[in-house]
Amino acid sequence: MNQATPNLAILGLQWGDEGKGKVVDLLASKYRHAVRFQGGNNAGHTVVVEGQAIALHQVPSGALNKDCFLVVGSGVVLNLEVFRQELDRLKGRGFDVLPRLMMSKKAHIILPHHIALDLWREERAAKAAGGKIGTTGRGIGPCYEMKVARMGVRLGDLKHPEILIERVRPGYEEVRLRIGDAAKELPSLEAIVSQLLETAAPLLPVIGDTQGHLMDAWEKGEPILFEGAQATLLDIDHGTYPFVTSSNCSLGGLYTGTGMPPKALHKVLGIAKAYTTRVGAGPMPSELLDATGDRIREVGREFGTTTGRPRRCGWFDAPITAHACRTNGVDGVAIMKLDVLDGLDEVGLVIGYRDGEGKLTSVLPACPQEWTELKPEIKRFKGWTSTRGVTRHDQLPAEAQAYLDALAEAIETPIAYLSTGPDRVEGCVYPGTFLADLI
Ligand code: GDP
Ligand code: IMO
Ligand code: MG
Repeated sequence: MNQATPNLAILGLQWGDEGKGKVVDLLASKYRHAVRFQGGNNAGHTVVVEGQAIALHQVPSGALNKDCFLVVGSGVVLNLEVFRQELDRLKGRGFDVLPRLMMSKKAHIILPHHIALDLWREERAAKAAGGKIGTTGRGIGPCYEMKVARMGVRLGDLKHPEILIERVRPGYEEVRLRIGDAAKELPSLEAIVSQLLETAAPLLPVIGDTQGHLMDAWEKGEPILFEGAQATLLDIDHGTYPFVTSSNCSLGGLYTGTGMPPKALHKVLGIAKAYTTRVGAGPMPSELLDATGDRIREVGREFGTTTGRPRRCGWFDAPITAHACRTNGVDGVAIMKLDVLDGLDEVGLVIGYRDGEGKLTSVLPACPQEWTELKPEIKRFKGWTSTRGVTRHDQLPAEAQAYLDALAEAIETPIAYLSTGPDRVEGCVYPGTFLADLI
């Protein structure tokens, strides 16, 4: 079926928090279905509409478009208590999403012992040589571990309350063995199960066959927007392992996390900030541990949507972003938050790294030790006064234009959209790109 609006994936190209939520919200009016396919409530997407900020964690960011049907795919892990709170919050803001929501019967449930294991492990790691990962503490890693160990509990299991306790038991007992004394703080198995059933009750009618739903939509030519959470450098396989999350946040996760085949996807839009941020531990060669880094954090309000932690800030890192563009077959990038760099005398762009022997490279290492040896090679650009709210790229200051041209060249990918402020209206679509007809 030929459809005018391409089925589109929106994927983060750095270490998360690129502004994916804003772009999904911007595009959602052209889409009939918005789909989350991986991650859980480690994600935090802030959408600003008419000056009002709304934070989304597990509900797809297409939610603020009332004609958009929302799908939570099988690759997502869900904390149902938090999910219900999110639904209530949205309802309070005028968005009753339950009637237009379907959650995969194959999606896994985050349980209290997953959270306990996540926190216990981080506490131990903090005292060890490698240090902690700096997870969001939401039980994401252990929930995915249980899935792969075939001890997970899925939404479909909730429809069989009589056997639920036996579905939960193996994982619960294994975690108790592992965490020793800390297990005393855990609720009993029976309490976990009865709480789960109570929390899940209003959600039972919307648990279903999301794969079938999406297949039907695809056959009917109804456009689908696939929204990635986290980002490629946090991908369990293609990120800065072990300082990553536990899902495939790059393109492969879309297929496994929905059950859709590659030909159901027509375009990939990558999202990157005009600089780089990271929350949590791990390599970040472009990090600025100086007043410029502090300034970017303050002006960009770089504090986590989910945990409130300050984000580490640095210059745009072309090698990591180019790696993400290649990994995901990105058709065009959206460059976000250019306005945050307004007023700086000088703006840096990391175009490669010097390795331990002084050789220039842009190959990303696989071992954390090798990352520490890399020093950023920075190209410097003259700063500009203001880009805030600019809606046409030909109205940008020449200095900003020169910076963006060099950035696009360094990642070998065209810019399709430029964001110049948090609001829907602040930004420009590049003419001649596939986005030109969509925004
Ligand atoms: P996500 O996780 O990728 O959806 O991103 P987050 O929502 O965690 O973080 C992005 C933050 O930047 C949010 O608070 C957005 O409202 C804000 N934002 C998005 N685009 C822009 C922009 O162009 N300029 C500024 N100043 N803020 C932006
Ligand atoms: P969005 O969708 C930024 C980071 C955590 C930590 C690592 C592992 O808003 O871009 P986890 O709790 O997933 O086991 O933590 O991943 N992390 C994120 N960083 N944005 C996110 O999501 C993140 N989700 C996880 O900080 O370093
Ligand atoms: Mg975020």
